[in-house]
Amino acid sequence: MKLWILSVALGLGLSGAPVAEQAADAIAPEGAAGGVQLTISPDVAQALAAKQAGVPVAAEDWMIAAANPLAVQAGARVLRAGGSAADAMVAVQLVLGLVEPQSSGLGGGAFLVWYDAATGRLSTLDGRETAPLAARPTLFQDDQGEPLKFFDAVVGGRSVGTPGTPALLAEAHRRWGRLDWSSLFDDARGLATDGFAVSPRLAALVAADADRLARDPATAAYFLPGGAPVQAGHLLRNPDYADTLRALAEGGEGAFYTGPIAQDITAAVQGAPGNPGVLGPVDLSIYRVVARDPVCASYRIYEVCGMGPPSSGAVAVGQILGLLEGVDLAALGPGSAEAWRLIGDASRLAFADRGRYLADSDFVPVPVQGLLAPAYLTDRATLLRRTDALSEVTPGRPDFDHTLNLADDEAIELPSTSHISIVDRDGNALSMTTTIENGFGSRLMVRGFLLNNELTDFSFRSHKDGVPIANRVEPGKRPRSSMAPTIVMQDGKPVLVIGSPGGSRIIGYVAQAIVAHLDWGMDVQEAVAMGHLVNRFGTYDLETGSRAETLAASLEAMGFKVGLRELNSGLHAISVGPRGLRGGADPRREGIAIGD
Ligand code: GLY
Repeated sequence: MKLWILSVALGLGLSGAPVAEQAADAIAPEGAAGGVQLTISPDVAQALAAKQAGVPVAAEDWMIAAANPLAVQAGARVLRAGGSAADAMVAVQLVLGLVEPQSSGLGGGAFLVWYDAATGRLSTLDGRETAPLAARPTLFQDDQGEPLKFFDAVVGGRSVGTPGTPALLAEAHRRWGRLDWSSLFDDARGLATDGFAVSPRLAALVAADADRLARDPATAAYFLPGGAPVQAGHLLRNPDYADTLRALAEGGEGAFYTGPIAQDITAAVQGAPGNPGVLGPVDLSIYRVVARDPVCASYRIYEVCGMGPPSSGAVAVGQILGLLEGVDLAALGPGSAEAWRLIGDASRLAFADRGRYLADSDFVPVPVQGLLAPAYLTDRATLLRRTDALSEVTPGRPDFDHTLNLADDEAIELPSTSHISIVDRDGNALSMTTTIENGFGSRLMVRGFLLNNELTDFSFRSHKDGVPIANRVEPGKRPRSSMAPTIVMQDGKPVLVIGSPGGSRIIGYVAQAIVAHLDWGMDVQEAVAMGHLVNRFGTYDLETGSRAETLAASLEAMGFKVGLRELNSGLHAISVGPRGLRGGADPRREGIAIGD
């Protein structure tokens, strides 16, 4: 029974093949006979059954939803032991860095939104990577000033920013933790030492990326042992990660940002063959998490709150919803092409503003208030008063007391990343999106974890026709993100905790799930599972194999260019209501929700 359940958990991976067909891959790790136990608790079994059935997990006291059952289990153990949502997040992130290393980890960055039940206050922590002090606006340009090809920029040391995740874990624990810091490392250390079963999703991604993973010897040795990609179900041990975790557990974040770990990080970046980077010891030693006010947008009777610059997430999600404020989406319903015309073009308008104005506001003035001002959005929404697709979409002119003489951005963001949602027994709520950017980041592995390629979230061009681009590379700056960890508030209390991976499509995934839950009355499992329709720059992406496909002809008739494709979100959501907590985990990935 236990093994079947694990196979179900891991079988919900990339291929979309029936669970039973994938089960054999993940039943027992190769070499597990040495006593490694695949302990799947009853609540994991329930979570898997709920996800299979398409219903949310129900709980009264606490709930956690994240991208891998082993990580969720680690967080659940912490919550059961009396830990806070912040404590549980630390345990979840440390396990994710091991079992879902392609998406997030100690070598990356994250944004966290926190609702504090005792004070009723919302706050955010910015653990985004920073550009090295030696970085220049031409970092991703060739000798002629032309942008590098994406993967020429990504693979190696050039794209690596100062990791922020270790400092964010420590800061969240200092502010809101209740349990002993070192105890939060137990699950991750045990799994790193004893081994974990490689999931089908991880195995498939390793196989697909084998050429790039082969370039760095440390990365190749781990993911391609003996030259072949690790297989699903293989027992993978990571003793280097276990050592890193021990150093962090005993020495705190200082053990990461100074000393031997920091030295190894900068040596790997500066020594990367063919594509060295400029990250140096000083960049790590001066890294700081930044506490920022949340960015909130009104939507009907709700406040939709999330991460402001350097993320574009909260502004863009808020703009999309704000542009739809005057539309009766509930009456139109999720099957209405007219609803999707409005949502799609609202999204295009938001992306046009995002490309012009959004960047790290510590370096570039960003008109956050102007972009979310109801008067601005009402005026801009008049563009949607038509029956067909907008033929042209350009940025608006929000109110601002700084120059708005900026050119449009061309940053490329491909999907990866991971999202964690938690509500604890005191009613604290945590929404955190965490990333190393591209799948497997820079492909450089140091001491058991992968280094990010977050700097490629900057615009490769610094100027266009002599006009500066807001999201250009600058020393110490944080690259613009699309991550949208969100907490939706009603009457000062959280009603929905949500977020997703997915590159710049994160914004569409999160906005759609919010509309599905708030306007269309879907429970959180339905809302995260529904077929996606995402429009950022003109092409309407419709999720293959989902009901979204049925809207293709109507949207084309309205003038949209339509593309069918996989839309691999990883939404994790928790609703908070009078009947308790409900958790939903995206069926496109391996995650689950557990609650008590
Ligand atoms: N690297 C993904 C994001 O920050 O949006």
